[in-house]
Amino acid sequence: MRKVLIFGATSAIVQEVARLFAKDGAALFLVARNAQRLASVANDLRVRGASLVETLAMDLNDLKGHEGIVQSAAGVLGEIDAVLIGHGELPNQSIVDHSGEEVARTFTSNCVSVLSLVTHVATFMERKKRGLIAVISSVAGDRGRRSNYAYGAAKGAVNIFLDGLRGRLHGSGVRILTIKPGPVNSPMTASMPKNILFSEPRPVGEGIYRAMKTGKEVVYLPSYWRWIMALIKLIPDQMFRRMTF
Ligand SMILES: NC(=O)c1ccc[n+]([C@@H]2O[C@H](COP(=O)([O-])OP(=O)(O)OC[C@H]3O[C@@H](n4cnc5c(N)ncnc54)[C@H](OP(=O)(O)O)[C@@H]3O)[C@@H](O)[C@H]2O)c1
Repeated sequence: MRKVLIFGATSAIVQEVARLFAKDGAALFLVARNAQRLASVANDLRVRGASLVETLAMDLNDLKGHEGIVQSAAGVLGEIDAVLIGHGELPNQSIVDHSGEEVARTFTSNCVSVLSLVTHVATFMERKKRGLIAVISSVAGDRGRRSNYAYGAAKGAVNIFLDGLRGRLHGSGVRILTIKPGPVNSPMTASMPKNILFSEPRPVGEGIYRAMKTGKEVVYLPSYWRWIMALIKLIPDQMFRRMTF
């Protein structure tokens, strides 16, 4: 995996993955919203050994630009071996509760923009008959909880879309990887009280890098979240709706 296109490159988790690709000497095309932070991430990755780092600053909620990004990245990198999509926003659910606009924004940031990118990349890779599309979803997408159900629903829709796309691309040479981290101590969760279930971005980034390099299709990070979510899904609805988390 020598040529990697990365969306949400300034995210704490994604930066950890990008550092591991840089150490391998990979060529990276980075896309993120904040040009200044993107430039600093790019410099860090050059120092860490990336053979080439190109950047593009844009708001990924602007869907019109998506097809062009894939073409630009292919032009710069020559080929695209893997794409990692990691941008996202965790809204304040108490605001989303009473705002249709915020519901729509949550879905655009965490679902529609992601699925639009996935579709353009899948079309590109299907023609080439090779490649990996890795998407950072969340355990929040496995069951709707009162504290984050808009974000969770957006991630859940991403999971289902990727399941179907995996079926469509079966045998095409294109692999789809769904990544479901549990809570991570990153800028996204800065205002949340932390507990023992929070992980640090580095081990989660390492897990993503490993899953991209192996043949995995769905990965929970840390892996024990697979079992936690299996148990959570078993809780009867009547009991679950009384739980306060
Ligand atoms: N932290 C967690 O507990 C957790 C758990 C499970 C899954 N995840 C997922 O992991 C991924 C990375 O999150 P993180 O924890 O590393 O958080 P983070 O450091 O806050 O990163 C989120 C990144 O997404 C970018 N972004 C958001 N909306 C964007 C848009 N419209 N266009 C371009 N970039 C946009 C942000 O850019 P700006 O800096 O410009 O805002 C930021 O770089 C996300 O998909 C998140 O949903 C996180």
